[in-house]
Amino acid sequence: MEETRGRITRDGIRIYEDADFAGMREAGRVAAAILDMVAPLVAPGVTTAAIDDFIREEIGRRGVVSATIGYKGYKHASCISVNHVVCHGIPGPKILGDGDILNVDVTVIVDGWFGDTSRMYVAGALPRKSERLIEVTHEGLMRGIAAVKPGNTFGDIGFAIQSFVEANRMSVVRDFCGHGLGRVFHAPPNVLHYGRPGTGPVLEEGMFFTIEPMVNLGRPETKVLSDDWTAVTRDKSLSAQFEHAVGVTATGCEIFTLSPAGKFHPTWG
Ligand code: MF3
Ligand code: CO
Ligand code: CO
Repeated sequence: MEETRGRITRDGIRIYEDADFAGMREAGRVAAAILDMVAPLVAPGVTTAAIDDFIREEIGRRGVVSATIGYKGYKHASCISVNHVVCHGIPGPKILGDGDILNVDVTVIVDGWFGDTSRMYVAGALPRKSERLIEVTHEGLMRGIAAVKPGNTFGDIGFAIQSFVEANRMSVVRDFCGHGLGRVFHAPPNVLHYGRPGTGPVLEEGMFFTIEPMVNLGRPETKVLSDDWTAVTRDKSLSAQFEHAVGVTATGCEIFTLSPAGKFHPTWG
């Protein structure tokens, strides 16, 4: 559908209107509510395909649409990225083991608006090293979000994330980034999770985008497997990711994908 309202910045970023926040709020809420329902399913012995089946069925029960089924040939209602998988893990027969950590990423379309969010889960007992990785990744995302306000730049967001992650001797993945979204899944800008203060496009009220840092315990390099989707750490170190969709407000930002049940972090709720 051609958009007729709003404007586009010099950097190609769409500025949405006040009324559009309601659409994103609902799409984000639905995506986050589905991720809330995933939490009790995750346990040793469960396959990632079973988790994806549940998500597909729940999307149907809610009468909304999966944004990933059919997207560039992708066939699943979620991406499930276990241990050293960085992102875009394909659900399948893999059985979760005790201490595995996984990111589940869901995007739904509700009344034409895209709700995109991901978070970490743990099967069984959480090893201390993995707990630290998850904690730093989550805090990195929240520090990036804290930098979202009109007049700041996208480089300020990246710097907030990178400086925190590297101070904790972990690394930020460079090969994947966040993105604008709204009535489309992926739009300008590329939201980098690293950068220098004051660089990049200036944030304006009405911009909608995701922040979704991937953090590795080892080196930042990744490679994509022969299935053309699964991205893994080259050094096989553990990787974690959290993703929120946000909208820039007059004074800061609104997070569209907050957990209705307060379960966003795996050791909460
Ligand atoms: N949800 C992912 C993102 O955060 C995109 C997944 S595309 C898929 O942008 F095709 F792999 F599902
Ligand atoms: Co995204
Ligand atoms: Co996503």
